[in-house]
Amino acid sequence: MQNFTFKCPTEIVFGRHAEDQVAEKIRAYGGSRVFIVYGGGSVVRSGLLSRIECQLTANGLAFQVLGGVQPNPRLSLVREGVREALLFKANFILAVGGGSVIDSAKAIAHGVANPHTDVWDFWTGHAKLEKTTPMGSVLTIAAAGSETSDSAVLTNEETSRKMGLNTPLNRPVVAFMNPELTFTVPKRQLVCGISDILMHTMERYFTNVKAENMLTDYVAESVIKTVMNKSRVAIENQEDYDAMSEIMWCGSVSHCDFTGLGRGKDFSCHKLGHELSARYDVTHGASLTSVWEAWAEYVYRDDPTRFAQYAERIFGIETGTEEERARLGIEKMVAYFQGIGMPVSLKELFGKTLSNETITELADLATAGDTKKLGTFHPLTKKDVIAIYKLANH
Ligand code: NZQ
Ligand code: ZN
Repeated sequence: MQNFTFKCPTEIVFGRHAEDQVAEKIRAYGGSRVFIVYGGGSVVRSGLLSRIECQLTANGLAFQVLGGVQPNPRLSLVREGVREALLFKANFILAVGGGSVIDSAKAIAHGVANPHTDVWDFWTGHAKLEKTTPMGSVLTIAAAGSETSDSAVLTNEETSRKMGLNTPLNRPVVAFMNPELTFTVPKRQLVCGISDILMHTMERYFTNVKAENMLTDYVAESVIKTVMNKSRVAIENQEDYDAMSEIMWCGSVSHCDFTGLGRGKDFSCHKLGHELSARYDVTHGASLTSVWEAWAEYVYRDDPTRFAQYAERIFGIETGTEEERARLGIEKMVAYFQGIGMPVSLKELFGKTLSNETITELADLATAGDTKKLGTFHPLTKKDVIAIYKLANH
C-alpha cells in the first residue's frame, strides 16, 4: 500500500428531512449571512428552495440567492456570484443542487475569501489558494460526488477550457443528503450520474500500483457492485427510496478518495471527457462512457491481471486465460453502460464521428501541447490520446 493522507471533514446529514437541519448547521459553522447558489430551476419547481429560504428566515439568518448555474458550470456566473456575495458580505455559501451548482459555490467561496484574486487564477495555477469561506450543499442528484470531494470543475467559456482544481479547501463543511430530493432527476441525468459514480471508482481501481491493497480493492468493488445492482431498481422506479439511498451514498464514498486510499488515482478518462465537454458542452457522465472502452482496450495489456481481477470480482468471470478474462470484463462493462442507455463511442455521443483534425486539436489541449501526460495506469502522451479518441470514434 502506498502512503497516504486522508482527511474528509465534511459532516454528512443523510436521510429523509436532512435539509430541515440547514439553518441549525449553518449557524453551528458560524454562518449568519448565507449566499445560496442554485441551477436552472429544478429546486424552484420542487419547492426545495423556498422551503430552505423559509427555514433561514425563521431562524434569523440573512440570505441572498443566485440562480442560473448551467451543467458544465461557467466561470462568468461564478465571477458574478463572487461580486454579489462580497457586496452581501456573505459568510457562508450554500449550494442547492448538483455537482455544477456545488462546484460554482466552491469557487464563489474561494472568491469571497480572496477578493483581490480572480478565481480562475486558482484553477490555472497562477495563484495559490490558501483560504476559503465555509460552504455546504443540499444535494439533489447522485453523481459528481462534489458534496465531499476535494475537487471543483469549472468551464471558462472564453477559452473553452474545462478544468478541475484539487485542494483540501474544496471539501465542504457539511452536506445535506435526502435521497427523496433525487426522485425528480430526469432519467438521462440519473444514468449519467450512475456512470460518473462508477467511473470515479474505476479511475481509482485502475492505477499502476502493483502492491496489494486488499481493503481498498474490496471497498471499490463493493461500491461498483452496489451501484450496478441498485441502478437496475432505480431506473425501473426512481422513487425507490432504498435504491436511491444506496446510489446517493455511493456517490459520496466513491469520490471522497476512500475508494483509492493507498493506490492513488488515474483519471485519464475524465481528462479526455473534459475536453469533449469543454468544446461540445456534453453531459459529464456521457463524455466518460464514450471513451472508457477505447481507453481500456488501449491500456489493459499494461496490467491484464488487474483487469482480470475486475472481471472476476465484478462479473464473476473465472474461466479462460487472463487475457480472455480481462477482455471479457471490458466487454461486460461496456454492455452494462449500453444497458442503462449510455453512449459507448464518440459517434453515439455526438451522432457523428469527429474529424482527425479535431481529434488532434483535442489531444493537443488535453496534453498541453504534449508537455503533460494524463493518468497513471498508462501515462498518456498526445500520441496515446489521439489513438484512444480514434479507437472511440466509431
Ligand atoms: O440546473 P437544475 O435545474 O437544477 O437541473 C439539473 C441539471 O439540469 C438537473 N437536476 C439536478 N438535480 C435535480 C435535477 N433535475 C430535477 N430534479 C433534481 N433533483 O440535473 C442536471 C445536471 O446537473 P449537474 O449539477 O450538472 O449534475 P452533476 O451532479 O452530474 O454535476 C456535473 C458537473 O460536476 C462536474 C462535472 O464535470 C460537471 O461539470 N464534476 C465535479 C466533480 C467534483 N467537483 O468533484 C467530479 C466529477 O468528476 C465531475 O467532473
Ligand atoms: Zn466525474
